[in-house]
Amino acid sequence: MKPSFDSHTNIFKLSNGKVDYLIYINKLGIPVHLYFGKSLKDFNSSDFLKQPDYNYQFYKDNHFETIDHYYETITPVEISTNNSNDLRPSSISIEHGDNNLLDFRFIGFETVDIEQSEEIPHARALSPSDCILKLKLKDIQEEIYLDLYYRLLNDSNVLIRKSEVINKTGKTIYIDKLASATIDVPFQQQELIHFEGSWANERNYIKESLNYGLKMLYSLEGRSGHSENPFFIVKNKETTENFGACYGFNLIYSGNFANELNVNNYNSLRINTGINPTNFHYSLKDEERFLTPEAILTYSSSGLNELSQTNHRFVREHILSKEQREKQNKIVFNSWEGAGMNFNTDSIIDYAKKAKEIGAEIFVLDDGWFSTRNDDQHGLGDWYINENKINLKKVEEEVHKLGMGFGIWIEPECVNIDTKLFKEHPDYALGKRDRVRKFGRNQLVLDFSRKEVFETILNEIKASLKNIKIDYIKYDMNRTLGDIYSYQNPQGEVFHKYVLGVYHFMDCLLKAFPTILFENCSSGGGRFDLGMLYFSPQIWASDETNPMRRLFIQYGTSYGYPLSCISSHVSKAYGSYQTKANVAFFGTYGYEMDPRTLSQEEIQLLAKYTNFYHAVHHEMINEGTFYRLLSPFETKFASFLCVNKEKTKALFLYHSFFKQVNACQYIKLEGLNPDFEYEINGEKFSGSYLMNVGLNFSQFKEADTDSLLFLKKVEEE
Ligand code: GLA
Repeated sequence: MKPSFDSHTNIFKLSNGKVDYLIYINKLGIPVHLYFGKSLKDFNSSDFLKQPDYNYQFYKDNHFETIDHYYETITPVEISTNNSNDLRPSSISIEHGDNNLLDFRFIGFETVDIEQSEEIPHARALSPSDCILKLKLKDIQEEIYLDLYYRLLNDSNVLIRKSEVINKTGKTIYIDKLASATIDVPFQQQELIHFEGSWANERNYIKESLNYGLKMLYSLEGRSGHSENPFFIVKNKETTENFGACYGFNLIYSGNFANELNVNNYNSLRINTGINPTNFHYSLKDEERFLTPEAILTYSSSGLNELSQTNHRFVREHILSKEQREKQNKIVFNSWEGAGMNFNTDSIIDYAKKAKEIGAEIFVLDDGWFSTRNDDQHGLGDWYINENKINLKKVEEEVHKLGMGFGIWIEPECVNIDTKLFKEHPDYALGKRDRVRKFGRNQLVLDFSRKEVFETILNEIKASLKNIKIDYIKYDMNRTLGDIYSYQNPQGEVFHKYVLGVYHFMDCLLKAFPTILFENCSSGGGRFDLGMLYFSPQIWASDETNPMRRLFIQYGTSYGYPLSCISSHVSKAYGSYQTKANVAFFGTYGYEMDPRTLSQEEIQLLAKYTNFYHAVHHEMINEGTFYRLLSPFETKFASFLCVNKEKTKALFLYHSFFKQVNACQYIKLEGLNPDFEYEINGEKFSGSYLMNVGLNFSQFKEADTDSLLFLKKVEEE
């Protein structure tokens, strides 16, 4: 639906019939945030904007109503500038001349068609009829313009926002902060859910009460990072998985981000989301523009499961590329956990033969195939094939002869210092040559803010794989950025230009290898974000493959991202193969171990899972609807289910982390058709029974036991 503007009330309305987003342009020309939530019949903006009653005797006459109910630290706004009277964390700070004073006022609006920026990933358009509201603002004095973009999806509770600054001052200005979105709402004791983590321990669900002061969720890793995912949720206190209002926030960005949540002394809750302003000082010459990444705001009136489902649909339809998504139904076997860098041509061919037996469809040779790369201290950055170690062409041909696709691992952004690349171009790495540079996993980071640096790497990779038929690439990045110093770019621009360089590189890589399935990875799940998913439909979720820990990681990830994006393998880690397969099934599903050590029984078990994968995985996991039932973060169990579109099939997992001797336990299912009859292991249940009474799990259980149940609608005779 087209955004509307009512010139009597001065209110912009974006509505899709289910949710409304309302902006009021006040008499000063300041865009005031009125509302984002369930569609309303009307909105009483004059009541909503009444300010606290200042009846203290000396101020009685000095009533704030005189300026259209506008008082800087209280009034909910759409953007706010630094160094103004709005004392909440600002959305914008720009240095121009000798100051950073700014006051943006409304000068007009347009409804525009979706512009697809080439530089930065964005929500894709499904139909050209989608349109965007652009509010045009200008500083009251300087020729600095600010455009605020709003796009509400027609069929989904998703609002996409971004901001753009245009410099027409005739001189260079410097952006120190520019949020993608700011939103102010009344503080009503809301709770925050966010996802912190570390290597092999990603996306732990943290729920906390919001309170007075500033809470900042951020990354300064130069990547979205392990420590905090850009996705977070703000919910009403009473909201649960299946009840109540909640809002999701995410950014289509893979670099440093800052999500600020501030409750001030006037009970106003401000949320800013965007590029992290730390170490950000971006020059804009006359007539140049700066566009932020897109912020994704989602809303649900019926709980967190619905919010996640909205996010899942959004990612599938508007973030993933159609071509990549179509390539996803293949079981990947990866050599890393089995072989590490210790392999040769024969051992890898043996791996491939065994991988075929358990049903692999793409065989991936991970780290260690190039240069002098036999451990993680050598060879990274020189991308010639190590002919002394492996005959890559022969491996590729054998793998193809076995009827599998062939994949390869690369880590283009880093360099070991013993390489020809580093010796010839020490300035290609971030950091100053006359200072000690700090290593992460024994490597330095290449300056991908420079085109010639990433083009050199791209050309080398292309040249060395010229004669190898590649069907899959795993793109890795195994450290945080440090020593932020570029020999070419201004230092305050490096973090952001680096991310743009990575995007550019990935785009070129996909053009150079157009038939590949593309997977991302960053020391496991250190770059699990919408920017990466724009290029690769799946991301290695974690180097932790112990299924008992993986359950937490995958459960946490599911709040913001669809299961089809969560790359997960049955590995050699601790736990039974059955549990490992059950957990990996609720992700992409693949294999990663020394397949030569598998017993005949294990091969048969995994081959059975392979068949099951082909029968149901796509329909349930990639295309189905996901429901969380029991949280490992809040109970001693994990349980969830996927239901297909027609509600005729469902796949349910239950895992008990503890030995359970004599407790009654019934688990109510979600998302079924109450009128259908379902069969589970030969027993019949109605959908209404399963959703209102639940499955009985009261029997004795050992610790770390699980069951995977397949539900199928009983067809009438
Ligand atoms: C990272 C990845 C692993 C593997 C290694 C190779 O740790 O997460 O899956 O590819 O690098 O060095």
